[in-house]
Amino acid sequence: MHRVSKLPVSLRTALLLIVPVAVGLLAACTPDNNQSTFGTAGPVASDQADLFIFIFWIAVVVFILVEGAVIYASIRYRRRSKSDKLPYQTHGNDKLEITWTIIPVLILIAIAIPTLTDIWEQQNGAPTDRGEVLSVEAIGHQWWFEFRYPDHEVITANELHIPVNRPVGFKLESQDVIHSFWVPKIAGKVDMVPLNDNYLWMMADEVGEYYGQCAEFCGIAHAHMRFRVIVHTEEDFNAWVAGMHTASDPPAAGSAEASGKTLFAGNCSSCHTTNSTAPGSYAQEISSQQARWNGWVSDIENSGIVSAPNLTHFGTRSTLASGIKDLNQESLVEWITDPSSIKIGTRMQDHAAIYKTADGKAKLTADEISDIAKYLLSLKPGSGTTDQTMGASIGGDVDAVELFTTNCAACHSTGDDKIVGPGLAGIGDQAGNRVDGLSADEYLEQSLREPDAYIVDGFTPGLMPNWEKLGDDSIDALVTYLKTMK
Ligand code: CUA
Repeated sequence: MHRVSKLPVSLRTALLLIVPVAVGLLAACTPDNNQSTFGTAGPVASDQADLFIFIFWIAVVVFILVEGAVIYASIRYRRRSKSDKLPYQTHGNDKLEITWTIIPVLILIAIAIPTLTDIWEQQNGAPTDRGEVLSVEAIGHQWWFEFRYPDHEVITANELHIPVNRPVGFKLESQDVIHSFWVPKIAGKVDMVPLNDNYLWMMADEVGEYYGQCAEFCGIAHAHMRFRVIVHTEEDFNAWVAGMHTASDPPAAGSAEASGKTLFAGNCSSCHTTNSTAPGSYAQEISSQQARWNGWVSDIENSGIVSAPNLTHFGTRSTLASGIKDLNQESLVEWITDPSSIKIGTRMQDHAAIYKTADGKAKLTADEISDIAKYLLSLKPGSGTTDQTMGASIGGDVDAVELFTTNCAACHSTGDDKIVGPGLAGIGDQAGNRVDGLSADEYLEQSLREPDAYIVDGFTPGLMPNWEKLGDDSIDALVTYLKTMK
C-alpha cells in the first residue's frame, strides 16, 4: 500500500489544492449563506429542500452499501499468491438478479411519490387556499430585473417587495435572451424565456430581505444580475404600495437636488422614469419600456436609448446595479461616473449620449454627478401634496424653458442633433408645412397631445409620451416656445 508521502509529487500538489477549494465551495452551502437553498424561508423552498435531503439520504445508503460491497469483495477475493489459477467462474444467479431489480424499483417508487406530489403542488399555479394571491410580472433584461404589479399598478426594478404568508404568483418574461428567476431561500428557479411566458409561485414565511439571482448564463454581466426580495408584514406591504403612489416632494429651489433634477431630466430621463406615481403612469411606463426596446432593437449599434430600470422612489432602495452594491452617495457617484467600474457591460454606458467620450466616462463634472446622485437619493414618497405630473403648472406663470428642459430635452436637442427624437432647430419655421391642413400651432399642439399622429421618417412610434397630462396652460406655453426655434 502507498502512504501519502509516497504519492507522486503532482498528485500531492493536486490534493493540497483541491481539498481547500472543495471545503470553500461546500461552505457556501451553509444554511445562513445568503444564496443557500438549505436555510429556507418559505414552503416551496422547504418542500424542495426536504425532497433533496430525502433523496440524498437514500443515495448515501446506496453508496455505502455498494461501495462497501466493492471494497469488501476486492479485499476478500484479492489475488493472494503468484499462482495463475483462475477463481471459480460463474454465470447467472436468478435470486440476485431479481433482488437487484426489485430494490431499485422500490427506491424509484419511494422517490417518485414525493417528487410528483411536489411538482403537482408547485407547477399548478399559486394556491388560492393559502391567502389572497399577489400577482407579479417579473421581466428579465440584460442585466437587471423589472417587476410589475398589475393589480396595484406599481412598477419597480431589482428590489421586489412582497407580503409575508401570502402566495405570490409570478408571470416570468424576458425581453432579450433567456434568464432564470431564482430566490434560493424562498423558491426554486424557473427560466425567463423571450416570447414564452413561464409561471412560478412562491410564499415567504419570514419577514426579511432575501437574495435573488439570475441563474441562466445570459451574457457578460450574468453573475452581476441579482435582485433582492423584501418580505414585509401585510401592513408594511400596503404602506409600500401606497408610497409608490405618492409623488416625491419637489427639491427646494437652488438646492443640489434641484440642479440634479434638471441634469437628470436632460441626460437620463429618456430611458429612466422617476415619477410612476400618478394614475395612468403604469400604462405609460409599459409603453415607454416597449418603445425603448423597439428603439434599441431597431438600431442596436447606434441607439441612444435602451430598456432601463424605473427609478421611482429610488432613494428608498438599499442596493445599486441590480443588487450588487449597497446604495449610497459614494457608490452612486461611482456608478454614474463609470458604470463598468462596478458592473461590466452595462447597456447604459454603451448607449447613453453622456458616455460617448474617449474613456467612456460620463461627460459631466464631479459636481454635476454629485447633484444627480443627491437628487436620486432624495426620491422618496413625499408629503402627498405635490401635483404628480412632472413640471406641471399649478396656477401662476408657466416657465416654458423649464418645462422644456424637464420634460423634452432628454430626447430633443434644440439644434440639429438627433438624441432620441428629432433635433428641433427650425421647427418654428417648418411646423406649418408638415401636415396638410394643420397650422404651425395646430401641428405643434398635436405633436404634444397625440405624439403618434405624425411621425417623422426614421423615428420610432410609441416612444414619446402623451403630454396632455401637463395641462392646457403648459401645452400652450410649450407651443409658443417651440415656435421661437427658427
Ligand atoms: Cu440574466 Cu443570467
